[in-house]
Amino acid sequence: MSFLSYQETRPWAKAIKQAVTVRKMPPWYADPHTGEFRNDRTLPASDIAQISAWADAGAPEGNPADAPKPLSFVEGWQIGRPDLILEMPSEFSIPSQGTVEYQYVVIPTGLKEDRWVQAAEARPGNRAVVHHIIAFIREPGSKWLKDAVPGVPFVPAKGGHERGVMADDNLTGFAPGMPAEILPPGQARLLKAGSDIVLQMHYTASGKAQSDRSRIGVVFAKAPPRKRVLTAAVSNQKFVIPPGDSNYRVDAELTLYSPSTLIGMLPHMHLRGKAFSYRVTYPDGRREDLLNVPKYDFNWQLWYLPAEVKVLPAGTKVACTAFFDNSANNPANPDPQAEVRYGEQSWEEMMFGFFNIAVDVNINKMDLYRPKRETSQAVPAKSGD
Ligand code: HEM
Repeated sequence: MSFLSYQETRPWAKAIKQAVTVRKMPPWYADPHTGEFRNDRTLPASDIAQISAWADAGAPEGNPADAPKPLSFVEGWQIGRPDLILEMPSEFSIPSQGTVEYQYVVIPTGLKEDRWVQAAEARPGNRAVVHHIIAFIREPGSKWLKDAVPGVPFVPAKGGHERGVMADDNLTGFAPGMPAEILPPGQARLLKAGSDIVLQMHYTASGKAQSDRSRIGVVFAKAPPRKRVLTAAVSNQKFVIPPGDSNYRVDAELTLYSPSTLIGMLPHMHLRGKAFSYRVTYPDGRREDLLNVPKYDFNWQLWYLPAEVKVLPAGTKVACTAFFDNSANNPANPDPQAEVRYGEQSWEEMMFGFFNIAVDVNINKMDLYRPKRETSQAVPAKSGD
């Protein structure tokens, strides 16, 4: 439905009252008692009361002369005109029914020099079948998906698709309700010369045979940034959720060995995801809860952007706790009888606490994830290395 004009909105008045009163709309799942977020969409109680009163009064139009000017929407890229567009070279066919394995499409950037990315956006070619897109940066020398022919959709052998999280990075992604990433001046992502973009395409059959050709748009920074932005993740892929368990807990933790600042968090689970939380333990032992999502909803893959910059000194531990509901009481549960493990499809599960951090522009990414080696312990390179 469209809410662009009074005529279009009026028939929805009761549904709007209902959706805002139960806080189903606008979609936002952070517990208000933990952290403050600069992209918080929660409506103040006074707005909800005003919308309800309007619906109860029969949704009157009011005086059209008092109406604000209609908003004008720009058709096209949210990031403005891209400096670089990377497109799947050909249409991919999605059958009317059945499961489509994740397709990986390698697109060489052709960049001859390192570039800093201020904004990036993934645009599905066909929203009816694109469940999500993740655009990874594959740096030169990475062995990830080495058998994939550039431009040709590729399905890696089971277990053969693991990405070097340490070596490769995220550029951008798309899921419904997720705005494009436009970084503030002074922050940017690094796209090294000779990098490829790897699109992870998750398609879902829609009952009708369809095709898709998605694109990535990139706007380069006008000046060199002060900080480099990276996506990291706290993850556990070894869990086994018993059939019927309504509150299965999974924990994961990651230590950051270089200083950084936290700029965003995105909890990710699948249909049995129930609750998710993030906290940090600083090197001095102080603990801080950063985000609590007590009622997770797989339909909303939302970034939560802290209102205040969180400084994470070297040695900070980022920990996440997930709860899964594999019982028949979970209406989204595709099979309460199943024992559930990590997997890519929605009926399998994931446990990822993605987070974006800003780090020193000259960082060696490996130093973020491993303790600095003592010089006295340095191991000489073996011959042939
Ligand atoms: C005050 C702001 C908003 C109002 C009054 C509103 C109202 C509604 C209503 C009445 C419905 C249909 C009834 C229902 O499913 O309960 C709905 C569904 C929906 N809204 Fe909103 N909405 C708001 C904000 C948003 C925002 C910010 C987004 C996207 C980021 C969004 C995305 C959607 C989607 C995708 C659906 C379909 C959900 C489904 O099929 O389950 N809405 N909204």
